[in-house]
Amino acid sequence: MLLDEVKNLGATEANAVPGGIAFAGDWTTCYRVNYWSRIASRVLWRIAAFDYRNEHELYAAAKAIDWPRYFAVERTLRVNVTAQKSPLKSLEFATLRIKDAVCDRFRERVGRRPDVDRTSPDVRVHAFFEGAHATLYLDTSGEPLFKRGWRHGAADAPLRENLAAGIVMLTGWKPSEPLLDPMCGGATLLVEAAALARGRAPGARRSFAFEKLSAFEASTWESVRSEEKKDEKQPKLELYGSDTDPKALNAARRNLAEAGVERWVSLERADILERSAPAPGGVMIANPPYGERMGSAEELAAFYPKLGDALKKKFAGWRCYFFTADLRLAKLIRLEPSRRTPLWNGALECRLYEFSIVAGSHRQRA
Ligand SMILES: C[S@@+](CC[C@H](N)C(=O)[O-])C[C@H]1O[C@@H](n2cnc3c(N)ncnc32)[C@H](O)[C@@H]1O
Repeated sequence: MLLDEVKNLGATEANAVPGGIAFAGDWTTCYRVNYWSRIASRVLWRIAAFDYRNEHELYAAAKAIDWPRYFAVERTLRVNVTAQKSPLKSLEFATLRIKDAVCDRFRERVGRRPDVDRTSPDVRVHAFFEGAHATLYLDTSGEPLFKRGWRHGAADAPLRENLAAGIVMLTGWKPSEPLLDPMCGGATLLVEAAALARGRAPGARRSFAFEKLSAFEASTWESVRSEEKKDEKQPKLELYGSDTDPKALNAARRNLAEAGVERWVSLERADILERSAPAPGGVMIANPPYGERMGSAEELAAFYPKLGDALKKKFAGWRCYFFTADLRLAKLIRLEPSRRTPLWNGALECRLYEFSIVAGSHRQRA
């Protein structure tokens, strides 16, 4: 899906690679992907690739890069290193050596060095080591792209915004269909669905690290920003959210308002096991509680069969999706999934289960 997304945004030579998509493009493309991608976490600009055998060679190769060309000495800096099978003993020391190389290069050129800021740096350098091969990138995003700038309410265990958007896309939901999240928490899925349906740019209320780089083209950025066309006139959107927890509903209300999509979403306090369907047919997407903090394994094991019964009784005509790390769900709910999509939530293996509920739905055979 990310490959399609970046191609649609103008990327060329786009290929899926482990952990992401590699692509080529001009600044317009880079700004567009940052501004419009609903799925990506970051957009990194590759500036160097080389082989190294030890810390000295790493330092020398990093110092050979013309850093003052990329950003001004006043910018604060952070270096991140990620490695697979690197011959180096300490990645911390490698991080330090790359930082030294950048600072030494600046000192030689302009007599001063940039300050390090670990929490909110202007410029992030990412180094990836694969064995003895290193690739260095400048981060054009800054804060990860799932931080859209609308999340304020404190609800438990929210999904990352880019994961939520990806889940909505995977269900194939169309804005003309009613959409219900009956365990909505802070309403991440509903915000992302509304933004998708209404053509809202996910990056419209945040800034990006590319604005801090010397290559920044303000007029190009202006024209990318002006591409957002709010599509408010389409047929009415029918989005519904409910949750048993009043705190979650308050957070949901705040988030929907911050994102400017509250007018399309009806919220109510209700238990998924008791509520009725808000329309004769539609798409349900839910992310049930999972893990110690959100309910014990036994509680959930008792809950899923009841959930299966409630779906059969009240949601005939609905396509229901459950995103969970609890791989027992498919068995315990006693309905046959019509699709199961493996997904990763960080390091946690998850599934998106699809159940098409028809009247008198087929129970799983014993
Ligand atoms: C993992 S959280 C959902 C997070 C949400 N997807 C988000 O991104 O903010 C699970 C939610 O299910 C709600 N919940 C638990 N049991 C419920 C029930 N029986 N009916 C409705 N909601 C329930 C909890 O209050 C919690 O807000």
